[in-house]
Amino acid sequence: MKNIILTLLLSGFVSNLWAQNKITFTIQANKPTATVASTMWGLFFEDINLGADGGLYAELVKNRSFEFDTPLMGWKINSAKDVMYGFYFGSDIQLINQPDKAATNPRFIRVALHKTKKGELSLTNEGFRGMGIKKNLRYEFSVFYRQQTATAMLHAELITEKGDIIGSAVLAPEQTDNRWHKVEMSLTALATEPKANLRLWFEGSGIVDLDMISLFPTDTWKGRKGGLRADLVQMLADMKPGFVRFPGGCIVEGRDLAQRYQWKKTIGPLEERKLIINRWNNEVKTRPVPDYFQSFGLGFLEYFQLCEDIGAEPLPILNCGMACQVNTAELIPLESLDPYVQDALDLIEFANGDGSTPWGKLRADLGHPAPFQLKMLGVGNENFGLPYVERFKRFQQAIQRQYPSVKLVGSTGLLSSGEMFETTNADLRKLKVDIVDEHNYSAPQWFLQNAGRYDHYDRSSTTKVFVGEYAAQSVGMTNPTNKNNWRTALAEAAYMTGLERNADIVQMASYAPLLAHVDGWQWKPDLIWFDNLGVMATPNYYVQQLFGANKGNQVVPMLDKNKLPVTGQDSLYASATLDKAASELIVKVVNAGGKAQSIEANIDGLRKLPLTAKVIMLQNNDLEAENSFTSPAIIAPIESIVNVQNKRLKVDLKGYSFVVMRIKL
Ligand code: AHR
Repeated sequence: MKNIILTLLLSGFVSNLWAQNKITFTIQANKPTATVASTMWGLFFEDINLGADGGLYAELVKNRSFEFDTPLMGWKINSAKDVMYGFYFGSDIQLINQPDKAATNPRFIRVALHKTKKGELSLTNEGFRGMGIKKNLRYEFSVFYRQQTATAMLHAELITEKGDIIGSAVLAPEQTDNRWHKVEMSLTALATEPKANLRLWFEGSGIVDLDMISLFPTDTWKGRKGGLRADLVQMLADMKPGFVRFPGGCIVEGRDLAQRYQWKKTIGPLEERKLIINRWNNEVKTRPVPDYFQSFGLGFLEYFQLCEDIGAEPLPILNCGMACQVNTAELIPLESLDPYVQDALDLIEFANGDGSTPWGKLRADLGHPAPFQLKMLGVGNENFGLPYVERFKRFQQAIQRQYPSVKLVGSTGLLSSGEMFETTNADLRKLKVDIVDEHNYSAPQWFLQNAGRYDHYDRSSTTKVFVGEYAAQSVGMTNPTNKNNWRTALAEAAYMTGLERNADIVQMASYAPLLAHVDGWQWKPDLIWFDNLGVMATPNYYVQQLFGANKGNQVVPMLDKNKLPVTGQDSLYASATLDKAASELIVKVVNAGGKAQSIEANIDGLRKLPLTAKVIMLQNNDLEAENSFTSPAIIAPIESIVNVQNKRLKVDLKGYSFVVMRIKL
């Protein structure tokens, strides 16, 4: 094939500092080495940092069913009487607990009214660090009630931090058959308020029982009732993820097995989804979150739906019969593991079975007759060692027998090096596991040094790699002063060129954690930060987004001195892919050094000369630079179209830059 040399004058980002040395690469666009899996870049989702409750799940009422360990947490009773030292000692609002009648949702409140007037007795919910309320938006209030006389009235009010009323509606429960009924009404907000509360005044006479007190915005993702925050889902969709791994993370394991994630308890009517404590409630001692529970309003059906909506493959991770090995490390004996394995088999049937199967029918009854086409399943999160491998084997045997086409993801533990990793990895590979899950939370330097990690993996192995959790830690793992700065994002970009170059081995990768509420986080750094009204993309987010949106489907060599991959020579890191459908060559280059550099590349195998190239650049001279809610675009993609002149690809890279180039073939 003819060797054609091109020059691109990338004037949009030409640096004033023309570098001394010129570095020449070869891109063998005519010699694809690997297919880039459609799943290559994806999302890791866990309910950490108020990621689900208080985040993606748009419910605004915290502890809506009074099932937190402290049953009135998040609620405040306001009464004109019966208050001493700020505490309510009255009996007009009682908390009833009836586990014999409703095992999954035993508590509710009983309100006794005695010609009560509005202004005398109310209950206020504080939301998740307040409620984000938007002017002119309609909100749906709903409640389950039970009564024998229709003499009570409920006044729902949205109130600002200062106490001003910015929305109200009145409800008169009608049914008097002493059974539970759900009733709904709308409130339209008169003003925007980031930290509103919901207040319920009671009026009238008689006794009314209340449960599942709920408030949702109507601007949810796809306008779904009781759905997800549209702004957050849009951020996820914009990453063009190939998969979503859910529901975690450590919450899969639980501190103990009682607290493990059990998917079957997260589907069906909301009021029957049994709430449990979130492991992140008390996991990080310096960041306790006593009000962090899992309502499972975002449950497995919703996760599958989310994947379908954003075109990502679902990758559920299930408990393998082991609690977190850095907590209790509880084990289910092998002879008692069957229910856990059955959960996995049932999940596959729930996702893929037709209406003639019990679990497939349930999915259809829940509103999704079409199968979700589940292709992958993870067994265990960050589990390792012989007990794990023994349990994994049981799952593998059962799943392969019944669902041979479902690929299994096995865990290699918490770290991607060291004895535990080596032995677990080797043992899983002996079992010919389809995919091993590696986790990396290390210093930015580690990511730079490991850009070539997968260049050296055994290519004869049938086991593929899922880099299931990674993020550069600016200070140290779990350090609360970690930052999402440009240093970390640039190092991740460099590392990702190595993942992409080795797409024959690395078939999936996801940054972690994904979401964090500014007022409710436990773990830093995180990809996307949000508050009650808005969202902020980190530089790390833009790196992920650029890889996701510019994936390509075939890897082509980009070589230094015609033989070496670009893994840090002159502080440069690079990879190249072809997008067959768009007929484009996609080149990604990271300049991890502070000096501008000039690179040239010969592109082998072009049939005609491209006239233009699209260039997308992330850059900042300051590695400590970060985005913020007030300055969200300190580091953000800058696009330009540049003319291609002459016959050489010539790129002037600014210091500390990441550049994606799309060249029409
Ligand atoms: O991403 C945060 C946590 O890091 C995950 O829950 C866990 O899998 C890992 O240790």
